[in-house]
Parts: sequence; C-alpha cells; structure tokens
Amino acid sequence: MAAGDPLITEVQDWNRYLGDGVDANPYGTPSQFEAHVVRKNVPWLTSDAISSINFTPLHALDGIITPNGLCFERHHGGVAVIEPTAHRLMINGLVDKPLVFTMDDLKRFPRENKVYFLECAANSGMEWRGAQLNGCQFTHGMLHCVMYTGVPLRTILAEAGVKTEGRWLLAEGADASAMTRSIPMEKALDDCLVAFGMNGEALRAEQGYPLRLVVPGWEGNMWVKWLRRLEVGDKPWQQREETSKYTDLLPDGKSRRFTWAMDVKSVITNPSPQAPIKHGKGPLVLSGLAWSGQGTIKRVDVTLDGGRNWHTARLDGPSLPKALHRFYYEFDWDGSELFLQSRAIDEQGFIQPTKDQLRSVRGSNSIYHNNGIQTWYVNKDGGIENVEIS
Ligand code: MTE
Ligand code: CO
Repeated sequence: MAAGDPLITEVQDWNRYLGDGVDANPYGTPSQFEAHVVRKNVPWLTSDAISSINFTPLHALDGIITPNGLCFERHHGGVAVIEPTAHRLMINGLVDKPLVFTMDDLKRFPRENKVYFLECAANSGMEWRGAQLNGCQFTHGMLHCVMYTGVPLRTILAEAGVKTEGRWLLAEGADASAMTRSIPMEKALDDCLVAFGMNGEALRAEQGYPLRLVVPGWEGNMWVKWLRRLEVGDKPWQQREETSKYTDLLPDGKSRRFTWAMDVKSVITNPSPQAPIKHGKGPLVLSGLAWSGQGTIKRVDVTLDGGRNWHTARLDGPSLPKALHRFYYEFDWDGSELFLQSRAIDEQGFIQPTKDQLRSVRGSNSIYHNNGIQTWYVNKDGGIENVEIS
C-alpha cells in the first residue's frame, strides 16, 4: 500500500461509467478475470478426447463444494446428449414387476439432498512409481464434491420388488460406452441415489444429464452416468470395468478385486505447484482437502519439514460423511525451503499411508487406489515442485 497509490487517489473507469444492466448474461458465468480457472487435460495421457479425462482445478478452489462447470469429466464414449422426455430408466431381472420410469415418474418419488465426493479410482494413478505431474489439479483432480438431488435407489428397488435371490445390481449407462458395473445389493439399499440434480440445478451434460447413479464413498467408475437400466441378479456380471480394469495387480501375481471404497486421503491445494508463494516471508495460509469413503474426517496433520514435525490442521466448514473436508494451517513463513505434506485420519481411525508404505503392500503395478501422502517442495523463492521423499 504505497502512499499515493493511483488506485486510491484517482477515479477509475469502473467508478466513472455505468456497468451492464441486469440480463446482460441471463445464465451467469464467472468474472472474466477468472478465465484461467478451468478444467485441463494432460494431452499425452489418452490418444483422443472421446475416451479421456480432464481435471478439476483444485488449487483455484476453496470450501468443499465444486462448482458444476469445474467438475472433472471422465467419459469412455463421449458426452451423450439426451433429451429428458426421451430418457427412460428400466428395472428388470430378479424383480416382482419389471418397470420403466420416465424422468417425470422419478420426480414424483420423495427425494433427498446429499453432499458427496466422487473420486475416480485412477486419481493419482500416474504417481504410483514416483512424482510425475506438477500440480494438484493433475495429481489429485479426478475429484469433485457436489450436493446431489435424487431419489434413494432403495425406493426404486422397492417399487419393483427385489426377489430374495436378488443379491446384485447391474447399472448400465445410455452413452455410446454403455458403461456397466455390478453393485452389491447391501450398498444399493444403503445410501445410493438416482440423481437428477447437482448443486441446485439439473445435472450437467458432462455429469450424466438427465440421470446418474450416486454411489457414495465408492470409486467413481461405479457412478454410472446417463443411467438407463438397473438389472437385479444373483451374482456379479464380471463386466470389463470390474475384471481387466479397476483391479490391482499385486507383486505375487494375484489381483485385488472389487476394491470399491475410496480410502482416506488428503492433499495440500495451496500452496502447490500451480499456486506458488508470491508474497514472500510472513503470514501464509496453507489449505487443503481431505476425504474418506468410510465416513467423515476426524483429523488432518500437516508437516512443513517432510514429516519430522507434525501440526494439527484446522478443519473448517461442514463435516459430512463421504464428502470433502476443508483444512487450513496458518503459519509465518521464514523464507526457508519446505517439504509440505498432509496426512488425514478418518472417523474409523484409518490413517493415510506414505507412498512407500503403500508400495510395500501393493507393489508398483497398480494404477488405482493410490491414497499415499503427497509432498510439495517449496524453494526459497516460493516456487513449488512435486517430489517424493523417503
Ligand atoms: N458412466 C458412463 N455412462 N460412461 C462413462 O464413461 N465414466 C465413469 C463414471 N460413470 C463413465 C460413467 C468414470 S471412470 C468416472 S471416474 C465417473 O463417471 C466420472 O464422473 P464425472 O465425469 O462426473 O466426473
Ligand atoms: Co474413473
């Protein structure tokens, strides 16, 4: 705040001239000065944009809710464009009466509003063998958290009447990939939703408009978008996405299967490689996200020196089960090098492991379910890099 700052002493254009009136932008968009806050992909990761992924800009967000336009996208066959009056949800298999619902039918059942994170099982998958991508957007951005509006899946199942042999549910998408996953009946009857709303508005096309399955705490692949069919059966269907994909090859040649729940995890979003320290020494707000597919987050610890000393972070905002939690740790930066890490502990007592601990059990063939502790190296100029320390 220099004396004679012209931004204080001189009248600015925005102070002198009238602005746009109402309705200049009937569906509001972010300020033009926030144009850099966008989803981004990693071009070398996939060969085309149809079966691809982009990433949520976690370093540019705060709180626990992801704005709809910034929720990462993962499509196996592109975005299906479905006119809602032409959408149907069918339920068949081991049920008393097979049914077909229109969107209007679904909106006549009692509905719920619930905040949940969605994490792709492949989130942080590129980091299994070592530090690779510079930015939490790319290392941790297959993650979003929104408030869903939808009908409990158990309500739909009760309407059709599940036969006693009905132990499994197949969910199928209406997109060109016809994404299909088997879900155990206990989970279907527990907390799954058939959702048509996100953050107060209709689902975005990218997120499965007009209807998607919400499978709280479980890997994103099971959250079938453009949901068109539910089949009740007595055993899992052994679809591609639960055999050759979404299984983890262990060092002994066996594979872990049906690893549905997303384990306790956290990441420091600020400072981070895409959000370096620009203000020099002095007060610094460190911030990050923690989550667990097992419930709420009990505690987050933060270290500035690569794990020698740990400090308890401050959790702020709602603490909802299977939702993102926001943490802060405020300190005075003395301008020295830092090795920043965060470690989350969930309500069940599960503690986020180091990457070495994870690899000692799971080897390094895996892609999925990397919940290891992330390290950011901060240099004396405030520049930041993704590194691993052991
Ligand atoms: N559902 C359909 N129908 N088609 C898909 O390609 N991708 C899955 C899942 N559901 C997919 C789908 C995967 S792998 C993930 S991680 C999530 O949707 C991503 O959800 P999002 O695009 O809303 O972030
Ligand atoms: Co996925």
